[in-house]
Amino acid sequence: MKITYYGHSCFGIETGGKHLLFDPFITYNELAAGINKDEIKADYILVSHGHEDHIADCVAIAQRTGATVICAWEISVWLQKQGVAHTHPMNVGGKWLFDFGKVKCVVAQHSSGLPDGTYGGNPMGFIVETDQANFYYAGDTALTYDMKLIGEYRKVHFAFLPIGDNFTMGIDNAIIASEFINCTDIIGMHYDTFGYIKIDHTEAVSKFERAGKHLTLMPIGSTIVKP
Ligand code: NI
Ligand code: MN
Repeated sequence: MKITYYGHSCFGIETGGKHLLFDPFITYNELAAGINKDEIKADYILVSHGHEDHIADCVAIAQRTGATVICAWEISVWLQKQGVAHTHPMNVGGKWLFDFGKVKCVVAQHSSGLPDGTYGGNPMGFIVETDQANFYYAGDTALTYDMKLIGEYRKVHFAFLPIGDNFTMGIDNAIIASEFINCTDIIGMHYDTFGYIKIDHTEAVSKFERAGKHLTLMPIGSTIVKP
């Protein structure tokens, strides 16, 4: 599968001919000025929670592409009111088999209000199982003991974890999270975008290395291939 980074917590994943897009936030991200959101492909958009920095470009991209948005029930109702035609409402603990693979919604310790103040339900993370690989997209979350359940539930080949601190867990807790989920291949997200979450890249990578894990900090606009 191909993974492309669009900045902050936004990733595009191409797997089995389908395009998944996670937490679209490009227009208001100064670091993503080089990304043209009108060129991003999406068959599915997965939204972890309602905060602006995860949903800002969701309506426009969903309308242009006709993508189905996978999200909490409360967010799906809100998106429909904004003119999004296709949503698949889910909630924590639930799983569903899509044509690209299986999605299981897991606990994220965070909050979830939509940009206009509407309640967004519970924030979530996603475990995605495909023919090529299984991965965990944590969304915005604190370190939580619930992550141990993920490690016991499935072999996760790689994981997207927030590492910017202040609003989510930081580097040290993300290292513990990667132990809980039993995964050594981590892709960092939710860092550098705002003043509160700027990180030292060299220090972050070496801290993971010292813990026997590998942290990838993808340049915005770059693509990597995973088996
Ligand atoms: Ni958030
Ligand atoms: Mn956030």
